[in-house]
Amino acid sequence: MKLSNFDIPAFVQDHWQKKPLMIPNPWEAWRNPLSADELAGLACEEEVESRLVTSGAEGRETGWALEHGPIPEQRFSTLGESDWTLLVQAVDQYVPEVAALIEPFRFIPDWRIDDIMVSYAADGGGVGPHFDQYDVFLIQGAGQRRWQIGQACDEETLLLPHDDLRLLAEFEPQEEWICGPGDILYLPPGIAHNGTAVGDDCLTYSIGFRAPSTSELIGYWSDDMLADLVKDARFADPDLMLQENPGEIRAEALDRMHEMIRSRFDDRDAFRRWFGQYGSIPKYAEHVDAPNTEQSETDIAARLDAGSRLFRNPSSRFLFVRKGDNSLTLFANGHSHDCSGARARFAEQLCAVPAGQGTIEPGPDENILSLVTALVNQGSLVFWDDQD
Ligand code: SIN
Ligand code: CO
Repeated sequence: MKLSNFDIPAFVQDHWQKKPLMIPNPWEAWRNPLSADELAGLACEEEVESRLVTSGAEGRETGWALEHGPIPEQRFSTLGESDWTLLVQAVDQYVPEVAALIEPFRFIPDWRIDDIMVSYAADGGGVGPHFDQYDVFLIQGAGQRRWQIGQACDEETLLLPHDDLRLLAEFEPQEEWICGPGDILYLPPGIAHNGTAVGDDCLTYSIGFRAPSTSELIGYWSDDMLADLVKDARFADPDLMLQENPGEIRAEALDRMHEMIRSRFDDRDAFRRWFGQYGSIPKYAEHVDAPNTEQSETDIAARLDAGSRLFRNPSSRFLFVRKGDNSLTLFANGHSHDCSGARARFAEQLCAVPAGQGTIEPGPDENILSLVTALVNQGSLVFWDDQD
C-alpha cells in the first residue's frame, strides 16, 4: 500500500521528533489488512506477546487492569461490550500484509524501526493517558478512535501508582482528533496521549521505533567489549613521580587510566562492527532458528537450481554499514559478513527488500552463494519449502 498524499521532506523537517501531526487518510486506497478475529487468534498463541487492558465498566472496581497473554480463548466471551482493549506486539512478524504497512515509512532507516503493535478495542477501550519514549505512527485500521494529545513528559512526570501500567497522574488534553480508517497520527517521544475507541471494531496499528539510550549503548557495548578483551592492559607507572601526600591520586595517574578506557571507546571501527551486530539483533531472537542440518553451498545451489525460493525470515533484521565505495559489512541477526563487489550489491538488495515481501533471487556468483549459505545456516534466510 502506498501513501499518495504525504509530503515526506516536509514531515521530516517540521514534525519528525518535533511535534505531533494528524495526517487525514493519505493512502492511495486504504484497506485494513487484519481482522479483529485474526488478532484475537494471535493473542491466544504462546509465542506471541499480547496484553489485555480493561478499564471503565470492565475494570471499574479495580480501575485499570492488565492481563498478559497468551489470552485463553474463553476469556474473550467473558469480556463486556465496552472498555477493554487487546494489544498484540510485533504483528508484522506474523502477517506479511501488516509488515507491508512499514514500507511507506522506510524513509526512516530500518535500524530505527521496532515493530508494529496492533490493538483492537471495544467501545470506550484504550490503554489510558500515558506517554511513550519512542516516536510512533498510529494508523487507524478500522472503526474510530478519539485521540487526545497533551503535555510533553519526561522521567520526572508523575505517574499513577500502578504495578503494571504507566498511567499519567495528570493529563491535560490540548488537542483532540477522531481518527477513522486510514488516518494516521504521528507522535514524537514524550507527548502525553490518550486513545479511546469510539464505537466497536476499533483497530489501530502502531509503528514503533527504537532509539538507544546512553546507558544501553555503554552497557551493551562494554559487555561485548569485555567478552572479547583478550589483551587486558594493566595500569603501569615505571615513571612514578614522588609525591608529597600519599593520599593524593595524581592527575597523571587519572589521565593514564582514563586513556585506558578512552582508547577502547574511541575505536570507531570496533563501534561500527558492534553496533551493526547489536542493531540487527531481532526483537525475538528465538524466532530465528538455524536449520536442523547445516546446509552446504552445494546443497543451496542445488535447491535454487531446482526452483526452491528463498525469503527473508520475517523475524530477522538486515542492516549494512558502508566501508568504502565498493565494500560494506552486512549485519543480520547479530552476525556480520564483509562484502565487496557483486556480493556487496547483493547485500544492498537484500537490505532493501520491500517490507512484507521477502523473496530473494541470488545470482550464480560464488561469493553471493557463500553469503547466502551463511545466512541460511544462521536462520536469516529461509527456503519457502522449509517453512513449518
Ligand atoms: C493503542 O493502540 O490503543 C495504544 C497505542 C498507544 O497509545 O501507544
Ligand atoms: Co502510546
